Amino acid sequence: MSILFSPFEIKGMSLKNRFVRSATFEGASEPNGEVSPLQLDMYRNLAAGEVALIISGTCCVHENGRLFASQNGLIHDKAIKGMARLAEAVHENGGKVAVQLFHAGREVSSFTPDQEGLGPSDVKNDPYFKHPHRAMTHEEITDVVDAFGAAAGRAKDAGFDAVQMHGAHAYLFAQFLSPNSNHRKDQWGGTLENRLRLHLEVLKSVRKRVGPDFPVLIKVGVQDGFDGGLILEEGLRAAQLLADAGYDGLEISQGLRGVRFHETEFRTKLKKPEDHGYFRKWSAAVKKTVHVPVMAQGGIRDLEMAEEILQQGEADLVALSRPLISEPDLIARWRKGDKKPARCISCNKCIDELESMRPISCILDRQKGKE
Ligand SMILES: Cc1cc2nc3c(=O)[nH]c(=O)nc-3n(C[C@H](O)[C@H](O)[C@H](O)COP(=O)(O)O)c2cc1C
Repeated sequence: MSILFSPFEIKGMSLKNRFVRSATFEGASEPNGEVSPLQLDMYRNLAAGEVALIISGTCCVHENGRLFASQNGLIHDKAIKGMARLAEAVHENGGKVAVQLFHAGREVSSFTPDQEGLGPSDVKNDPYFKHPHRAMTHEEITDVVDAFGAAAGRAKDAGFDAVQMHGAHAYLFAQFLSPNSNHRKDQWGGTLENRLRLHLEVLKSVRKRVGPDFPVLIKVGVQDGFDGGLILEEGLRAAQLLADAGYDGLEISQGLRGVRFHETEFRTKLKKPEDHGYFRKWSAAVKKTVHVPVMAQGGIRDLEMAEEILQQGEADLVALSRPLISEPDLIARWRKGDKKPARCISCNKCIDELESMRPISCILDRQKGKE
């Protein structure tokens, strides 16, 4: 049997195989951010399609870190009931589910230009970020730290199996980690240890609420998408410090985004085989230095590559996003012996749907619908 279909455990959470759905914002919740019937269907299908661990789309911890009104949140206790239905939909179909806890930081203003985004610093003349934002006060930072803890407690109460902090892709944690966006002179900026303080204070705050035995994961951006930002050497050291501090699993991605798709986490035009698995080298480098499970992701499209990643010790788990939008039953298909690569062509038309405020769907299905 392939190692891909062997079980795995993270801090007592047993997974039936090595496939993870990397967090994917579906744009499918109710307009007020509540869990919708469409979302329940999406999660049911992924679990029935044999994804061992589904990581939810971004779930807001604080109103000042929300990108869209329609995003799920665990900001108040009243959200627990709806989110519990999401967890149940996965469990009833034999999967495990982690909620991705999220604060957009200054990125808020990239979608809501009349709102000032909060970030580590007010950066002038940044070619990669031109929207209105200001530096957070110490009190605002500690308020957000508390909010992560409270949201994690609610996630546990709602029946989720784990939580994952969103520490990548240009959002708050990545903004604090990158010297491009963090110019602070206090304990939240400067040295690597200071730029990681938010990540570590959040971990403490979360642990207080969920206890020592609950899996607390993080998706971490180990390098920015442009020159002049976080460099890999520091990103690798950061990953090591996060694992040493007690995060129970690391998913490896990139930090701040450049302007074009190939400077983001969702690279497109993956035409040649060597374009696939574009963050593999980073997870392999992290895996060498940490003692906690590592997830590789980014452009993984076929079984052979997924198997190689695990066999070569580059990661313990492989995570996919776009292929599972296109084929929620991909993992079951592979397990049953149909080894054709994912049909996803990484065209990013699923992201265009989000930008048009429609739920994600695959262009290949939309084209079929028109025939
Ligand atoms: C439509 C869409 C929504 C996404 N939403 C999230 C998200 O909520 N949180 C996150 O960490 N990454 C998000 N991502 C990034 C993916 O998790 C993943 O890192 C990236 O797409 C690369 O993996 P892939 O090549 O398998 O798609 C999203 C990607 C897409 C295409």
